[in-house]
Amino acid sequence: MPKRLEGKVAVVTGAGGGIGRGEALALAAEGAKVVVNDLGAAGDGAGSSSAPADDVVQEIKKQGGEAVANYDSVATSEGGENIIKTAIDNFGRIDILVNNAGIFRDHMIYNMTDEEWDIVMKVHLYGHFYCTRPACVHFRQQRSGRIINTSSTAGLGIPGGTNYSAAKEGVLGFTKTVALDMGRYGVTCNAICPGAATRLSLAPELWAQWERMRAQGLPTAMRPDIVSLEELKKRPPEMVAPLIVYLATDEAANINGCTFSVSGGEIGIFRERDIRGMIYKDGSWTLDELIALMPKSIAKGLINPAPAEPPKG
Ligand code: NAI
Repeated sequence: MPKRLEGKVAVVTGAGGGIGRGEALALAAEGAKVVVNDLGAAGDGAGSSSAPADDVVQEIKKQGGEAVANYDSVATSEGGENIIKTAIDNFGRIDILVNNAGIFRDHMIYNMTDEEWDIVMKVHLYGHFYCTRPACVHFRQQRSGRIINTSSTAGLGIPGGTNYSAAKEGVLGFTKTVALDMGRYGVTCNAICPGAATRLSLAPELWAQWERMRAQGLPTAMRPDIVSLEELKKRPPEMVAPLIVYLATDEAANINGCTFSVSGGEIGIFRERDIRGMIYKDGSWTLDELIALMPKSIAKGLINPAPAEPPKG
């Protein structure tokens, strides 16, 4: 079987562990030369180590592929430039960019610090920008390229994660506009919302939140089919990779600006944001009219995902 990505060069950020590791291994298995970027940070973004990126490079070489490590942070402009330069310096080109690096640092909105807000925005939203911009300089010149971004269903709300959900929803807007800016040059830009058992998603605090909301019958941003930790563990991070490899191939040339859900053997495509109901008047609504009409029309049946609770203690 011919390899589908022979001659192509891929960059995967945050590829030292979890989902990114699986993506780097799968891209290499299809013949791509891979830059394995990873800062080697803890789940909350603290610290650094060259070991995770080095280990994945060794794994790729062992399976007969070509790879080089890069330890820059995606959270700085220089880091992003250097990650893309690593591809050019080592392999002479770049064809595929997978923006995957991510961290989680939660705190309820009333306690969230500037630092917690900034670091999550920097790694996720700025990280996508800092790597995509220099890659697009090359993609535009060569009139080809593939960008796969990493968002999350947590963008729909995750208790204590305002920084994370704002950044992840930002990634979706970013994706759609990069798709428009770069489509004319034969480049595609799509996003995934993954669901996989990694150190981020297995965090006990996160599960305590989901379980509390589920027990109250409240909607959560967690996939409805992942009802337990055991269910999540059946979805290893490597199962995200086939979709990424597919989106990187020439076969996916016409898929641009889309958002995919991917978890275990499931691959879904999200509907574009649509208006689900509307009331209309030729003129401005009065407050009395809205108070009377809303519960009977577009606000009918809405569930408050976090209803008021009696004070504790
Ligand atoms: P992970 O913690 O296993 O892997 C993330 C990797 O990113 C780590 O190896 C870490 O060292 C690296 N990293 C962190 N900050 C970095 C920086 N500034 N520069 C370069 N590398 C950095 O987590 P996981 O679960 O594999 O997450 C991958 C992506 O998928 C993240 O963007 C995450 O937000 C997203 N995601 C994961 C979900 C899941 O179910 N695991 C669900 C939704 C989204």
